[in-house]
Amino acid sequence: MTSIRQLGKSIAAEVVDIDLSQPLDAPTQAQILDAFYTHQVLAFRNQKLTPEQYLRFGRYFGELEPFFLSRYNLENYPNIYVLSNVKKDGKLIGRYGAGMHWHSDHTYQEAPASATFLYAIEVPPEGGDTLFINNYAAYESLPEDVKQRIEGLRAIHHYHTQEHLYTAESSVSEEMRQKIAAHGQEEGATKTVIKQSQTEIPDVTHPIVRTHPVTGRKALYLNEALAIGIEGMPEQEGKELLQFLCDWAVNHTELYRHKWQVGDVVVWDNPSMMHTGTFTDPKYPRTHYRLTTTGSVPY
Ligand code: SIN
Repeated sequence: MTSIRQLGKSIAAEVVDIDLSQPLDAPTQAQILDAFYTHQVLAFRNQKLTPEQYLRFGRYFGELEPFFLSRYNLENYPNIYVLSNVKKDGKLIGRYGAGMHWHSDHTYQEAPASATFLYAIEVPPEGGDTLFINNYAAYESLPEDVKQRIEGLRAIHHYHTQEHLYTAESSVSEEMRQKIAAHGQEEGATKTVIKQSQTEIPDVTHPIVRTHPVTGRKALYLNEALAIGIEGMPEQEGKELLQFLCDWAVNHTELYRHKWQVGDVVVWDNPSMMHTGTFTDPKYPRTHYRLTTTGSVPY
């Protein structure tokens, strides 16, 4: 068994004095899962993990799934997806600039990811934090008439690549945006916020109010970039309602900011949270290994 230290007022906790390179016994696994569903985001500091040890830890939370853009997966480890701004021989070693908007992971899938893990390999001395908010609290804080308006509505989720130039934090100067664009050039960066890409992934719809498959609690289920409209609603009206809900969630709930240290492992619960990456100056290397577990169809 281990001990849990709360990080935020209502979300996020650190699991202390634990070495994830060792197998965890059943009571410790149960304690961690319980803390996960209570605090929604868990941090483990100072870990030194081989890919196999990291994968073993991930499997305590469910079945792992590979990221579909396989060119970013760690060689010989299809379930480990590399996020990085580091280039070797002029090529990025991982996906650059992913997730720079408020979202839950893989909402373009019929059964989107359940847990996501990031393991910090290289971190910048400043910037590159990951931010989290609580979508149970977002739903619960909505005025009654809004709750009634959105009951039963489904958002349309459409996969497209995100652009590197804009982050959820708006303080990035034009000069810096240009630097980031130049750094990510091989990824096709442009000056538009979102660049449509040709993909074979069909659109899916998900309820805007989701019942958590484990806790049974209701939460908003949103994705600021990939939810492009609401089924059966005029396009503009749908977009405006989705943006209103996203802004509401960000402005009416506690935000937990994770400042990374090398060796941190952080895991979060996608059905009840949104998160976003933030700006990293491309002169500083930032690399994380990411895992996701298979989720269920939202209802
Ligand atoms: C993600 O949203 O998957 C990445 C977030 C981050 O890199 O901080």
